[in-house]
Amino acid sequence: MADQRERVFSGIQPSGTFTLGNYVGAVRHWGPLQAEYDCIYSVVNMHAITVRQQPAALRKATYEAAAMLLASGIDPEQSVIFIQSEVPQHAELSWVLACNTMFGELSRMTQFKDKSKKNADNINGGLFTYPILMAADILLYNAHQVPVGVDQKQHVELSRDIAQRFNNAYSDTFVVPAPLIQKQGAKVMSLQDPAAKMSKSDPNENAYVAMDDAPEVIMRKFKRAVTDSGGEVRRAEDKPGVSNLMTIYGIMTGKDDAAIEAEFAGRGYGDFKEAVGQSVIDVFTPIQQRYGEILADKAELERILREGAEKARRIAAKTLSKVYRKVGFVSN
Ligand code: TRP
Repeated sequence: MADQRERVFSGIQPSGTFTLGNYVGAVRHWGPLQAEYDCIYSVVNMHAITVRQQPAALRKATYEAAAMLLASGIDPEQSVIFIQSEVPQHAELSWVLACNTMFGELSRMTQFKDKSKKNADNINGGLFTYPILMAADILLYNAHQVPVGVDQKQHVELSRDIAQRFNNAYSDTFVVPAPLIQKQGAKVMSLQDPAAKMSKSDPNENAYVAMDDAPEVIMRKFKRAVTDSGGEVRRAEDKPGVSNLMTIYGIMTGKDDAAIEAEFAGRGYGDFKEAVGQSVIDVFTPIQQRYGEILADKAELERILREGAEKARRIAAKTLSKVYRKVGFVSN
């Protein structure tokens, strides 16, 4: 029987280890979505090479990313999980979509502008056309919902525009996707500068927590986290450091702001920071254990990814052949 549920697609780049920010904003939602949606998840290694990569490091990071997704609750029996470069249709559809995307649209992408500033010596064509590849990822699988962090919303909206434009020009072909943005903790900020997003490219390692950081490292980073003046644990605009820690603690423990404020009333920041660190350790420890086990059985991991790529190719090939037919490509 055909799956009647809506489809979810999302991708994550294999750029080193995931941070607490990736976990909170994206990865932790992917497992639970399986109960409601037909989910397809990809490690998008083709996106990763828009920034120069060491080949050996990229190879390793690709397996690690897949292992971390599995450790975080993606079940290969329920969902499709695959490596982007193993499904050639992504690159192929990307070209057709590129011919239906405007230079001006790509120029308006804020991430392109940011990344061009950061990589001023390598503003390559891929960095510019990256959102087209992302649209291909989504449209190939006719995804209805695309769980992403707020920073990717603009790219999903561009995917919508491209889908609609293609549908209008060539008749109904693609499902028009929508971004699925989780409100709580959509953005986790740097532990050293709460005005900046938590990022693993931060030169200060204390600014982010990696999902494979050892418990003592996690604790140390939280103990060093910047707080604000005053000693009160309370969410407020002028308390961005404490507010960020409250967000993290709330997500890790399920407690709301009122409960957190009550818990730490009359106690100092020191106690609070330690509790936040411990809450993250409690959530990450079992994930890290599974992650270690998955990476230790490389043959099984490869089997899961091979099977995932096969399933993905079957779906993608169907969409691509429809697209090729509609645009007038001959098939002999
Ligand atoms: N661009 C996304 C990021 O950097 C990753 C990504 C690639 C993606 N293709 C996707 C996310 C498709 C959702 C759907 O985070």
